[in-house]
Amino acid sequence: MCSIIGYKGKNFAAPILVNSLKRMEYRGYDSVGVATIDEGKMLVRKGTGKVAEVNKKLDMSHMLGNIGIGHTRWATHGGVTDKNAHPHAAGDNKIAVVHNGIIENYKELKSELIKTGYIFASETDSEVIAHLLNLYFNETKNIKQALMKTCKRLQGAYAFVAVFDDGTIGGVRYEEPLIVGVAKDGYFVSSDVLGFLEHTDKAIFLDNGDITIVNDDKIQIFDFNGKPVDRPITQVAWELGDIDKGKYAHHTLKEIDEQKLSIVKAYNQEEARMKKFLRILRAAKNVYIVGSGTSYHSALVAKHVFGMYAKMRVEAVMSSESKYVLSFLDEDSVVIAISQSGETADVLDSVRLAKSQGVKVLSIVNVTTSSLARMSDAFLGTNSGPEIGVAATKSFTAQLIIIYALADRLCRGKLGLDKEKLIHAVDSVLSNKSTIEKLAQELKNNKDLYLLGRSLHYPIALEGALKVKELAYVHAEGIAAGELKHGPLALMEKNTIVMILNPHDTTFNDTISNAHEIKARGATVVGLSDQKEDVYDYWIPIPALSEEAFYPIVEVIPLQFLAYYLAVGKNIDPDYPRNLAKSVTVR
Ligand code: G6P
Repeated sequence: MCSIIGYKGKNFAAPILVNSLKRMEYRGYDSVGVATIDEGKMLVRKGTGKVAEVNKKLDMSHMLGNIGIGHTRWATHGGVTDKNAHPHAAGDNKIAVVHNGIIENYKELKSELIKTGYIFASETDSEVIAHLLNLYFNETKNIKQALMKTCKRLQGAYAFVAVFDDGTIGGVRYEEPLIVGVAKDGYFVSSDVLGFLEHTDKAIFLDNGDITIVNDDKIQIFDFNGKPVDRPITQVAWELGDIDKGKYAHHTLKEIDEQKLSIVKAYNQEEARMKKFLRILRAAKNVYIVGSGTSYHSALVAKHVFGMYAKMRVEAVMSSESKYVLSFLDEDSVVIAISQSGETADVLDSVRLAKSQGVKVLSIVNVTTSSLARMSDAFLGTNSGPEIGVAATKSFTAQLIIIYALADRLCRGKLGLDKEKLIHAVDSVLSNKSTIEKLAQELKNNKDLYLLGRSLHYPIALEGALKVKELAYVHAEGIAAGELKHGPLALMEKNTIVMILNPHDTTFNDTISNAHEIKARGATVVGLSDQKEDVYDYWIPIPALSEEAFYPIVEVIPLQFLAYYLAVGKNIDPDYPRNLAKSVTVR
């Protein structure tokens, strides 16, 4: 999604803003812009492309002034054009605005403003905010009033930061994140702590319906009616070093490799948190697990693991579908939300829906300062550190570790989660990346890829297909192996590539039969298994594990590598796949 940032302090704003935007670029990256105030004059530079490209072209980081705002865009309303890039200015450059979210009633507002004589420069919904601020500022000559009146007109989900030519910065949070960074020599207002973590670890997490004004070296926070509200300063824990790629060509590769460490961090849960989480879970009669994208695949794994080991029947629900299926919950139900970012709009909607029915919400979340963590009755942090690559990798395996840890406790240790054994297994798949790199070379011109798995391996087939689609733009489909005969077999012919997730566990005999059926139709079979079989044209070895529940961890890593190397082989930047955003905060 878009990133927004404002800075007011003793230093030049533009270089700080450009650097912050680079750190937050993973959220959205089709256009960039910065506005600063220098001696009462507004300067705006913006254009399409990534931060580094636009900065090179427009030299944004040398703009003068120690007050400014910045934005990276992920287009929703209006194409990817220079004019649609933020900031949007109004009132003859007296006000400029950067926005994240969607203004649902922008069409009505826009036509009303046009009738009053306002001229729009872009096709975005966001520009209405700038003109409304201008309208209400002209009316009241008061920035606080202008912000309050503007908010009362807006419908939808939004966070915005505005800069005024008198040097004031205003920020608003409504259903989209906005955080104030309190540094020694200035203030930040940002959609992500990564926007200011380099300068300060002191943060104020604004609540929904908060407005903040930074002026005269101080900060005020009040609600939409102007009533002051008190928000505490929190210390943010993440290590900045984690945000750099280090020796790696891409964040994605670094994050895949980091899994040896991140699974341990996920494993190390605070006992009191774990107990609270389990207490709520054990008391539930019905358990629904929601998530989007990769996190939904974790929910599917959880459904199997909780069922197989804890004999607990749970339902996995895609967050985007939850409003159609979770609108009639019993009070003794529990919803577990899984999310890396904790800001995915669909996930937050599922949580609101659950809460509105009096149902308790548990979450498994990486960003423990996120909206999801705050809305949950109890949460467990995956402790993966920042995940910058758009495709989820280390956060997925960390989610699985927490699911295993919970299941293990629920079945009194029958699952036998052994940290050392898992690390060893993960290490062995990580060290096999060159096999996958070679395979990716051979497969890179293929247009389609099918992945087959049963039981616990089916969610991994879906996840592998998602990775390949996201990173390499190859059509890929995860198929429940037993469903092959009910349709997909018609697609099997010479040149079709099928990956079979086939370790020697309870699914092996059935799945190997599928491999033969596919091979008999002339297709190429890639076996991902702990043993080589004659039917495999290619074999990706994985270690044999004592318990089948853990295979998803060692299966998904080779698939992450495959997607990564396919992307690199096709000259695609795997960190920033086209049209996608790391955290989708719109519906
Ligand atoms: C986006 C990302 C996916 C991610 C999904 C859910 O679509 O591109 O990689 O899996 O959101 O994100 P969350 O932060 O809720 O896990």
